[in-house]
Amino acid sequence: MIARLALVFAGLTLALAASAQDTEPQVEATSAAPRTGPEIFADTCVFCHDARGWGTRSLVQRTPPGQAELLQRQVLPPALVRNAVRRGVGSMPQFTPTEITDEELEVLAVWLDSLN
Ligand code: HEC
Repeated sequence: MIARLALVFAGLTLALAASAQDTEPQVEATSAAPRTGPEIFADTCVFCHDARGWGTRSLVQRTPPGQAELLQRQVLPPALVRNAVRRGVGSMPQFTPTEITDEELEVLAVWLDSLN
């Protein structure tokens, strides 16, 4: 009986040690480098702001001809992007710092401003 208990205990210890090892690489993966502007745009914005996206179709109504796509916009100050992303605008949802960190938002805003 005692021998069997000892075996179960040993098994548990091994299982715990194995699972502790398993989780380690995942912890490292979550602290990956911040994404670049183009990466954030591709992950989060292009879905609505590509040529046929909902955002682009909405912005056609109030942007200069040919500039409804964010990537084509001549004037896109970082403050406008920060505001739209953190507060949402019209039917565009807001994005929290969990989805886009402050650091990433800054990189994204500066990159968008630099395009045209
Ligand atoms: C679910 C769709 C959707 C996503 C995802 C989305 N947007 Fe939008 N966005 C919209 C819509 C729709 C509008 C137009 C809102 C309105 O005026 O009614 C808009 C408007 C904007 C505007 C305002 C432009 C102006 O001239 O006022 C900016 C800036 C903007 N989006 C940036 C972004 C960025 C940056 C991302 C990615 C982080 C993003 N959007 C993701 C739908 C989206």
